[in-house]
Amino acid sequence: MTAAVVPTADQQAELVQRAVAAMDWAYAPYSKFPVGAALLCASGRIYDGVNVENAAYSPGVCAERTAAFKAVSEGEREFVAVAVATRGAGAPCGVCRQVLAEFGYGMTVILADADSSVRLVTTLAALLPEAFLPQHLV
Ligand code: THU
Repeated sequence: MTAAVVPTADQQAELVQRAVAAMDWAYAPYSKFPVGAALLCASGRIYDGVNVENAAYSPGVCAERTAAFKAVSEGEREFVAVAVATRGAGAPCGVCRQVLAEFGYGMTVILADADSSVRLVTTLAALLPEAFLPQHLV
């Protein structure tokens, strides 16, 4: 059981603001569904991410994974919270849940709309129960 990691109200507000701002950088000419993510790591740094689509469709990547891979490639190994901003405040896809779980099963997940209103504050563990995690590879 991984303990929930709860960011402060100020941190949550900053993450939402950063995720909504990032929506402007989404490259989503095919779906026309921009997504922004802002990922807070244990270092205190925040990494933005956007969905990046592709003419061949399948190489496209979600905003959450862009942020996660940016963070890990900069040395981060512990995720504290992520805010995701979409029209309608959608939740992360299953693949992104699995990627986030690797580095923060107890992390907070904030779902925000494009107008910065927050629809849900939850945890990754609640979104992906019984996840397959690194400790299972023994
Ligand atoms: N998308 C994300 O960026 N994150 C999600 O968790 C769900 C979907 C993107 C992928 C694609 O570029 C667009 O939203 C429509 O599915």
